[in-house]
Amino acid sequence: MDNRPIGIFDSGLGGLTGLKALRELLPEENIVYFADSGRLPYGDKTAGQLRCMAEQNLRFLTGFGVKSILVACGTLSSNAADILAGWPVPTVGVLTSSADWMSRLTGSGPLAVIATEASIRSGGYRKALREVCPHREVVSVGCPDFVPLIESGHTAPGDPLLSEAVRKYLQPVLDSGAEALLLGCTHYGIIEEAITAFLGPEVTLVSAAESGAAALCSLLLKQKMTGGGGKTRFFTSGDPDAFNRSAALFLGEGAGDIQADAVERWEIPQEDRDKI
Ligand code: DGL
Repeated sequence: MDNRPIGIFDSGLGGLTGLKALRELLPEENIVYFADSGRLPYGDKTAGQLRCMAEQNLRFLTGFGVKSILVACGTLSSNAADILAGWPVPTVGVLTSSADWMSRLTGSGPLAVIATEASIRSGGYRKALREVCPHREVVSVGCPDFVPLIESGHTAPGDPLLSEAVRKYLQPVLDSGAEALLLGCTHYGIIEEAITAFLGPEVTLVSAAESGAAALCSLLLKQKMTGGGGKTRFFTSGDPDAFNRSAALFLGEGAGDIQADAVERWEIPQEDRDKI
């Protein structure tokens, strides 16, 4: 029994897909969720900036005495995999967990991954998928408009701006005949319905966020480190009210007790901001 909290972070709403998945697997855990909304989007940052932010966010959550951390962000997981792997607190990133998940899929046709520009540019997903599925073609597409659209509320399947972006980014995936599509950015779980509506039900969707939650759950069970009081604390480096509103909207349905009703602000220290 280990009642220390689990830390989860992302640039904004995306990591909530991981939080939701983790809550379903381990409802008793105490969780500290950090949304770095003040520095969103991550997808247009350089690898150097992202590595710096990964360290700063890991340090912030480590300060809560967390027993483990879920980096519910494909962009940081793919640009700072070595930092995550070497962190003194057991840390799971969604890059390795997604590759593991994809390796368990049956079939031999092409695989696709969509993620932020910075994730795709890092080559991390392509490399990880090639390693676990060496005989399958891998198609990767960067989708820079998705995160800004999702964060500004364009998430409904019939939304015209979202539909246009979905068509633009997913046509190559459809053309490739991909059998499975990895949602390599945790935000994309929020628009899963729009993605399925375009690709059709034959294409298996794999959520990086859910794979991360499952990997963290296995780790805690294996190490006998589960336990807690089922509480969630939310922090943001952006506007707490805005995050509260969007998070409550997203978490609303079927999220049990994880209503984001009190979001606290974390003012990123000036010396940390100067490094970005
Ligand atoms: N949700 C994040 C990811 O998984 C970051 C998106 C962004 O801020 O660009 O990559």
